[in-house]
Amino acid sequence: VSRFKMSVRSGSVSMAAAPMLTKLQQDCATPLPVLRNVAASMSDDIRAGLAVDGGSDLKMILSYVDSLPTGDEKGLFYALDLGGTNFRVLRVELGGKDKRVIAIESDQVSIPQELMSATSEELFDFIASALANFAHKDGNFPGKKGEIGFTFSFPVKQTSIDSGILIKWTKGFAVSGTAGKDVVACLNEAMDRKGIDMRVSALVNDTVATLAGARYWDDDVMVAVILGTGTNACYVERMDCIPKFQGEFSPSGRTIVNLEWGAFSKGLPLTVFDRDMDAASINPGEQIFEKTISGMYLGEIARRALLHMAEEGSLFGKSMPEKLSMPFVLGTPDLSTMQQDGTEDLHTVGSVLYNVAGVESNLSSRKIVLEVCDTVVKRAARLAGAGIVGILQKIEKDTKDAIFGKRTVVAMDGGLYERYPQYRRYLKEAVAELLGPETSQNIVIEHSKDGSGIGAALLAATNSKYGRNL
Ligand code: GLC
Repeated sequence: VSRFKMSVRSGSVSMAAAPMLTKLQQDCATPLPVLRNVAASMSDDIRAGLAVDGGSDLKMILSYVDSLPTGDEKGLFYALDLGGTNFRVLRVELGGKDKRVIAIESDQVSIPQELMSATSEELFDFIASALANFAHKDGNFPGKKGEIGFTFSFPVKQTSIDSGILIKWTKGFAVSGTAGKDVVACLNEAMDRKGIDMRVSALVNDTVATLAGARYWDDDVMVAVILGTGTNACYVERMDCIPKFQGEFSPSGRTIVNLEWGAFSKGLPLTVFDRDMDAASINPGEQIFEKTISGMYLGEIARRALLHMAEEGSLFGKSMPEKLSMPFVLGTPDLSTMQQDGTEDLHTVGSVLYNVAGVESNLSSRKIVLEVCDTVVKRAARLAGAGIVGILQKIEKDTKDAIFGKRTVVAMDGGLYERYPQYRRYLKEAVAELLGPETSQNIVIEHSKDGSGIGAALLAATNSKYGRNL
């Protein structure tokens, strides 16, 4: 972008778009009363979802994980991790109390776009092949049956620790023939087709794996939250607080419950851009919290707002940025890159807009773009914070051994949380605002790096079929 063009266009640009920005900021506002209401609705929905199946937007899925890693786990275990964007295979060697994780090796591949709308067999064959390649590498193929912790990050109705039925796909997946099926059976069939002699000892959601992984190092972890492509949370609940599961047995009297909080929908401040994005999605009316706060969608919400400002408010002067009309062309990582720009002329913002969206911009339009990013991200992070407080307040209120008076850890993972500093800051600020200075001192919101991979291997160990480590 030449200086000449920039100076010619500056001035009038921001004037027309400014009221649109104000409107967006108003629609996205999350003052304390809004956050309080979201937190309270989250608590209510948790209780209603625990009372009966279908009692609220939240599925409150019993994980069948009732004993968490202790540190004594020993042996070689595998983890498969099917998330939203990537697929990972890990091999973890556990050495018991003193040695803990002796070795960890992993392979990661990004999930090919076409696989997201393939058939169930194609998807599971892909997973089994990746596992076979990995296990064969360096001649490490296990002589005896290898045991797998399978992290499957979609809503699954667990039927035991090592089986569960896919309720529906989320995060843009539309694989045919899996919904209603046992995903472990699907994987076993694919492993048979590939001649792999391994078995799944634990089927877990990524939140559950993260909680287990974080607990391995820290006994005070009570809640785990994923903020990545999608979003979700789980926490440690007492069996006597789960009326719908009465009769189910847990020796510890506790279990991990997966909220599937992406489906939460109450009291969220939504804009026309959210509604349009939802209507155009493959699952309209579903996963509204996820669509408001998670990585798959923030860039798209911002893109829609910017396109509107360009078309109706001449945000980028007279040039119509055609690429900006392409859905999902602006990613959440782009928003983060732009928000880290420390240059005076917002050079990075300019090049992201140019490279990603084909947009030429001047300083005043770049400033507006940054405001749009900040507005969308701030709303998301503060709502995520309110969701966390909703879980904590539910535990505090219904549990005799209250958590607010002592150190309590919320384990966080996911690319959005990891790689968006502003998101992290806004989230923590919202939690502190809601809980007040005294209580929030005890609540530690901590990034649990790679917790999910190690966590799944640990749960395979805890639930080992061969009793190697019990
Ligand atoms: C989606 C899935 C959920 C997962 C979350 C984070 O919301 O439905 O199971 O935990 O994404 O990956």
